[in-house]
Amino acid sequence: MTRQFFVGGNFKLNPTSREAKRELVNILNKATLNPQTEVVIAPPALYLIPVLELLRKDIKVAAQNSHTKNSGAFTGEISPVQLVDAGIPYVILGHSERRTLFGETSVIVAQKTRAALDAGLRVILCVGETLAEREAGSTQKVVEEQLRAVVTLLSPGDWSRIVIAYEPVWAIGTGKVATAAQAQEVHADTRKYLTSAVSPEVAESTRIIYGGSVTAANSKELATQPDVDGFLVGGASLKPEFVDIINATA
Ligand code: G3H
Repeated sequence: MTRQFFVGGNFKLNPTSREAKRELVNILNKATLNPQTEVVIAPPALYLIPVLELLRKDIKVAAQNSHTKNSGAFTGEISPVQLVDAGIPYVILGHSERRTLFGETSVIVAQKTRAALDAGLRVILCVGETLAEREAGSTQKVVEEQLRAVVTLLSPGDWSRIVIAYEPVWAIGTGKVATAAQAQEVHADTRKYLTSAVSPEVAESTRIIYGGSVTAANSKELATQPDVDGFLVGGASLKPEFVDIINATA
């Protein structure tokens, strides 16, 4: 089966003014984009609704986080049902910055994923190993442990609303991109894991995208790999070259 190529732009906590945010949206609004590619951008929470209103309708919007609960006394949190109510279709969960800087365990990420799906969101689920874990030869073990927590809480039908983002921590924001072979190896192993842990159909149809220092220059080669179904882009999603990354398969 053909998996639709997917490119996400994770703006993280950028930019810092409404004007700069408008400029980023304008670049995308004016660009010629490959219509075969699903494009999703994730601005900071405060800009979600204005971006949704300004952005061309063939690009979707994602939140960068959401809570396990929909409402209540949870100061500062983002409600999955409020996101759906606001017209936001996607959320990024399990990003390594959430795991390391905000103490999110794989169990919390799995609970957030369950809650997001129950509310009607689609999830970009991030997994990936640190440099020490890669050097210790435990990349796949780490990725599988992170996924197992989610697999436990999902039924096979849920996976049509999940995009897995493999993001080696050592590649995020470092300029040290994984080689095409390294990315392909982890993506293929992850698909193998999904085959046994969920089903061959889910393994075949779930998109597994790569994130970590993706640029216009390296995206074309990465995109040639059979199990690389797209990208989650951080820094370069704030630059005009994001358009070239979206068009990497064109
Ligand atoms: O979510 C995006 C990733 O953290 C990648 O960030 O492209 O700046 O390395 P980066």
